[in-house]
Amino acid sequence: MKTLIKSGTIVTASDTLKADILIEDEKIALMGTDLPADGAQVVDAQGKLVMPGGIDVHVHFDMPFFATFSSDDHYTGSKAAAFGGTTTYLDFVPLEGDSPRASVEAWGKKAEKSVIDYGFHIMLSRWNPAVEAEIPGLVKDGVTSLKVFTAYESLRISDAAIFQVMRSAKKHGLLTMLHAEGGEVIDVLIAEALAAGHTTPEYHALTHPAWGAVGATMKACSLAAQAETPLYIVHMNAAGEMDMLKYAREHGVPVMGETCPQYLFFGIDDLRRPDGAKWVCSPPVRSPEDNARVWEALCDGTLQVLSTDHCPFMYDGTTPIMYEGKPYAYPGKELGKDNFSKIPNGLPGVGDRLPVFWSEAVSKGRISPNQFVALTATNPAKIFGLYPRKGTLAPGSDADIAIWDANKRVTYGVKVAQHRTDYNLYEGWQLVGFPEKVFSRGRLIVDNGEWHGRPGMGQYIHRNPNPPLL
Ligand code: URP
Ligand code: ZN
Ligand code: ZN
Repeated sequence: MKTLIKSGTIVTASDTLKADILIEDEKIALMGTDLPADGAQVVDAQGKLVMPGGIDVHVHFDMPFFATFSSDDHYTGSKAAAFGGTTTYLDFVPLEGDSPRASVEAWGKKAEKSVIDYGFHIMLSRWNPAVEAEIPGLVKDGVTSLKVFTAYESLRISDAAIFQVMRSAKKHGLLTMLHAEGGEVIDVLIAEALAAGHTTPEYHALTHPAWGAVGATMKACSLAAQAETPLYIVHMNAAGEMDMLKYAREHGVPVMGETCPQYLFFGIDDLRRPDGAKWVCSPPVRSPEDNARVWEALCDGTLQVLSTDHCPFMYDGTTPIMYEGKPYAYPGKELGKDNFSKIPNGLPGVGDRLPVFWSEAVSKGRISPNQFVALTATNPAKIFGLYPRKGTLAPGSDADIAIWDANKRVTYGVKVAQHRTDYNLYEGWQLVGFPEKVFSRGRLIVDNGEWHGRPGMGQYIHRNPNPPLL
């Protein structure tokens, strides 16, 4: 099957040019001006931008967490992603027992219903000889990144273990990812807050202070420097973390960082709203000063990636919503109505990321369209071993393409976003710029708001080891 995307303005991380794109089967075959149709189905992209589909390297689909599961599974989450212009995601696999490879294999079955392409990171919540022995096999399976935690009692491991993980990751060509918070202090603060009768969502932020995140970031950079290994710090959120990241990078530590839209737009005042549980995530949303500094770091290249940490829950899991014509309800944020520490941590975002960020960052003149592509597709592809198959538009690359209407105005919210949950953080926002058509490996899966995707169309992507330092 051939498709010719005609007369669009192509935007990659480095170039903007008027050209046609010929897709043959799943790949981009040719790019150039005035390409002949030659029996191809023609898609007119005159006046539109043509960009690589987004890559979200941080999602949690169907994940057991806080006595429930995240409410998007690999079908519903990948569908929501596609509606927002994202065509590839990397999902976190929880470690079961002492076998990372068996955990990945079992998780792979859940992901088979994905509509778009995907890969996995393993969450290393334990470190022992059995786990270590399987690290080389993970690379053979195409899993070339792992996440360690300095927070959550059930997930965090010691500094010594993190250091050993880093050295093993380096030896076998994996990228270490790290959740940076002051876990032990958090546990003390939560116990004290609850003992004092503080149960509301704002105490989630007050018990997860920024200084804990800043300290954990500095510690992580120090461990990476000593292990001489690349490090990628996830969901960075606090002004001081930006300073630590900048300092470490300026001193030659091979560390990179991502942030997520929630850390650009929201803060503790949102947690103080009557529906503040909607904003509970870890690390927490912080202050306008933190938001401003994270924006700056994203625009000046201190941060390399904008992902989402998509981990949605229902706000009221007792009241069903209709999803694809069927009622859906599942325990969510109401689990913590009397105790902030029981509110499932996480937010929806996989479908919001590109439209919201385009509108706030490109339409408002903060970054160029090329920077947008770099932060949301090209850099993630390079860092996580997907490039140049994904993350750019070039002959030989997968035809994962978003045709973007930069002038389209959309009143955004839960009815537009396709996440399987009952709320959206950007309710009523007036967005400028929206994906019009989305292709996944050459197949048109979203067309002007119409859904053409099917469960199982997505493929597991075997990723390359040895991440570059961006
Ligand atoms: O609140 C969050 N971020 N939930 C997902 C788990 C994590 O730490 O990324
Ligand atoms: Zn995390
Ligand atoms: Zn996460």
